[in-house]
Amino acid sequence: MSTRSMVKFLWKKRMLFFCEAAEACTNDMACGKCGLGPSQAGWALSGTLPFEALGLSHLGWASCLDRIDGLLHRIWTMTVVVGDGAVFCSAMMVIDYPVDSDVSLHRHKHSAQSLITRENQRTRMSCGESKVVCVTGASGFIASWLVKLLLQRGYTVKATVRDPNDQKKTEHLLSFDGAKERLHLFEADLLEEGSFDPVVDGCECVFHTASPVLLSSTNPQAELIEPALKGTLNVLGSCVKVQSIKRVVITSSMAAVRFNGKPLTADVIIDESWFSDPAFCEKEKLWYMLSKTLAEEAAWKFAKEKGIDIITINPGWVIGPPLQPTLNLTVELVLKLVNGTEKFPNDTYRFVDVRDVANAHILAFENPSASGRYCLVGKVKHCSEVVKMLHEIFPALNLPDKCEDDKPFTPTHQVSKERTQTLGVKYTPLEVSLKDTVESLKDKNFF
Ligand SMILES: NC(=O)c1ccc[n+]([C@@H]2O[C@H](COP(=O)([O-])OP(=O)(O)OC[C@H]3O[C@@H](n4cnc5c(N)ncnc54)[C@H](OP(=O)(O)O)[C@@H]3O)[C@@H](O)[C@H]2O)c1
Repeated sequence: MSTRSMVKFLWKKRMLFFCEAAEACTNDMACGKCGLGPSQAGWALSGTLPFEALGLSHLGWASCLDRIDGLLHRIWTMTVVVGDGAVFCSAMMVIDYPVDSDVSLHRHKHSAQSLITRENQRTRMSCGESKVVCVTGASGFIASWLVKLLLQRGYTVKATVRDPNDQKKTEHLLSFDGAKERLHLFEADLLEEGSFDPVVDGCECVFHTASPVLLSSTNPQAELIEPALKGTLNVLGSCVKVQSIKRVVITSSMAAVRFNGKPLTADVIIDESWFSDPAFCEKEKLWYMLSKTLAEEAAWKFAKEKGIDIITINPGWVIGPPLQPTLNLTVELVLKLVNGTEKFPNDTYRFVDVRDVANAHILAFENPSASGRYCLVGKVKHCSEVVKMLHEIFPALNLPDKCEDDKPFTPTHQVSKERTQTLGVKYTPLEVSLKDTVESLKDKNFF
């Protein structure tokens, strides 16, 4: 069943209803006519529906006032988002009703039909059709989702990997819908100057995600700092030579935001004005944090000097279903918890879902008014609370019931969502991220 007929079917069966403050309505879609974005109301599916089984993950909507046949109407434009979060562009539906009478669906079918066509044209354009973009470090956890969503939105993706002949790094990318026609793999290394020149050539946007993610290192300068710092400057150096590039979106990290020695008490709200302090990171031997801090600092300095438009996305601890066959560091935390460990870490994490991170990167490019840094954290939770949540979702799993030490639990601070909300980011609930991560790890036989 096509998504459009599915929506019609749901509506007919009265399974779709209008509700205030709808939880399920998480996609954003500014209206093409008046530019209105999502506000307090939305469309939701009845809680009794087999929502996931139907392949629907979100419904997006926009509304505007329009005069049709002399009557003032509110036009609701619905976008159905399928599966793992990509906008299903061709499935737009316009539902209109006169604002001065009761809801009457399809009352002005012909006018609505022409709006559908117009909206479809607009959506296809805004969804990246015929746009060429580059993703560095494409085989990584976050980048794999980014490539998948970009392809689903119609972009042509030039993706860099260190070794295009390594099937473990590329097979999953090549299996994505649209990959055959619109994914091009390139070999590039962060440490090789000029390595990215041929890749970024002809692109409108470069998403720079490649950077080593290691929390312990015997040679931090070579293993972390050089690839992060030199790598970022190499990529930006290639971008500055190319006229077609409108914006560079850099995957920075909360590691470049919160490590400044300030105590994280319960009343603290971290926001984009926070910067990690390189001297503090060095003193505490926080090498990954230092690598991300120096890389972001250098990127802003370079952008200012050369006059290029950059944005940094600063995610917290990213979890969610991995697309790549190998395990990455942050998902490993969840695997350890469900895989028979007796003790959980006495630590507080700033969680965010990988699909929200990939989506935020795309929104940062697509939204012309986006600028600066965006802290991306869905929920701050102590590990003990994560274990509790996992127990509620998977009561049969053998989960740790002791903390690794008997120190008091660190208090839970907050991270501001204000800026990411202006970008249109809607956060996946932590319960959903945990459930999807564990199920994906099980499917991939990690435990
Ligand atoms: N996961 C998180 O919680 C999190 C949070 C905030 C920010 N980030 C940032 O997000 C980005 C991606 O992280 P991830 O979690 O997706 O990690 P990941 O799966 O380990 O991906 C890291 C990517 O960087 C590439 N890379 C490393 N060194 C390289 C080099 N010298 N030359 C070229 N490519 C190199 C890797 O390529 P290979 O596959 O060839 O090794 C890999 O594709 C990083 O910038 C990271 O700092 C991650």
